[in-house]
Amino acid sequence: MPALVVIGAQWGDEGKGKLVDYLTSGADFVARFQGGNNAGHTLVVDGVKTKLQLVPSGILREQTRCVIGAGVVVDPNALINEIRNLRGAGVAVTPARLVIDRDAHLILPYHIALDNAREARAGKNKIGTTGRGIGPAYEDRAGRCGVRFADLFLLDELKLRLADLVAQKNDYLAKVLGADSIDFNTVWESVEQAVRELKDYVGNVSLILDGALKSGSKIVFEGAQGTLLDQTHGTVPFVTSSHTLAGAATTGCGVGAKYLDHVLGVAKAYCTRVGSGPFPTIMDEPIAHQVREKGGEYGTVTGRPRACGWFDAVAMRRAVRLNGIDSVAITKLDVLSGFEKIKVCVKYLLDGQEIEDVPAIASEVDRIAPHYIEFDGWAGDFTGVTKWHHLPAEVRFYLTTIGEIIGAPVTIASVGAERESTIFSSGASFVRTFVQIPEEM
Ligand code: IMP
Repeated sequence: MPALVVIGAQWGDEGKGKLVDYLTSGADFVARFQGGNNAGHTLVVDGVKTKLQLVPSGILREQTRCVIGAGVVVDPNALINEIRNLRGAGVAVTPARLVIDRDAHLILPYHIALDNAREARAGKNKIGTTGRGIGPAYEDRAGRCGVRFADLFLLDELKLRLADLVAQKNDYLAKVLGADSIDFNTVWESVEQAVRELKDYVGNVSLILDGALKSGSKIVFEGAQGTLLDQTHGTVPFVTSSHTLAGAATTGCGVGAKYLDHVLGVAKAYCTRVGSGPFPTIMDEPIAHQVREKGGEYGTVTGRPRACGWFDAVAMRRAVRLNGIDSVAITKLDVLSGFEKIKVCVKYLLDGQEIEDVPAIASEVDRIAPHYIEFDGWAGDFTGVTKWHHLPAEVRFYLTTIGEIIGAPVTIASVGAERESTIFSSGASFVRTFVQIPEEM
């Protein structure tokens, strides 16, 4: 112990990677527990950008071991490229520092083909997926016909099974979706490449983390996507296919729930969303455009422009509840600098009636009339600030007040992309101890 879970409290892209990277200065392990290469984290260290999709954000810290839990779906090709790129940038990625759980599932070429063929067929009803095969891979896991890293050690058996599976997928692709089929050899090459380049990384993450937790190691569980994209509790059907909530850290890494000590929810000072789906607090132009450009709000994976909206405290209260968030980090406060007024949605009205929670039906979420309160804006460049009490008074008031509204204290403020632009309040006691931050900071 202790174990810290870091999750996105909105629709993803909250800046979790940067936070995890910072928090890993005190961590022995960083564990990914869900999602796949639909995630994209950009870390900036000493002005150098590193993009990560599957490799946990702790990889830039030499003393930190990174594990990819059974709950993650891994496109071997994507992971191999990521490892190569990291090595090219001088980062030591070795089986001693990176372990993939034997029970994690592989994303194979037919998953990607299915994802894209379904989206094309759905037309205007498409989910707006990242096209990485995430959904079809999780479907196969639930359907008990997926390919796991453990299967790479029994290739004869796998080849027989895959021949039948690929034939089934091709039937579906061609006859139902009207799409091109996938050649078995293409699939098999992908498997062989995984065997050649990733087999040495395969291990038992549950055993490793259990031992680590019992011997007092510090672990950061790194979430991907965000609460409102959770497969069951998000804005269904415009969601991803994994559980993005803090609880998924246990099933996704094979560790007991009793080990999770603290849940840190990460949210932007505003909201963004990429892909299709309802977005109650979407901003009007030209404000949305200004926020998008200033905040660099373009998907790290697909490059798509993100829709921008005001901070949604109703959805955030839901995130606090669903995850059991103990404390909150608010990121990108610098992006809102210069706006005269900052809006926060505190109530949802549906057909004139106040409702307590985010509706379950997407068309109802679409009909919500958000009720806003307004805060005085803040100005100037405060990206160099390192102490909470040096933040502009308006920023501190905003953070304290939204903490009260959402029912979880805001104890971390992120005011820039660099590691150092992370400021802790005196209330961040768990995280301060975890990272060993001196009291005066
Ligand atoms: P999928 O995860 O590729 O199946 O996409 C499903 C939905 O989740 C789409 O709206 C995607 O844009 C969204 N999504 C998936 N991963 C991320 C992420 O890391 N950040 C933000 N949105 C994401």
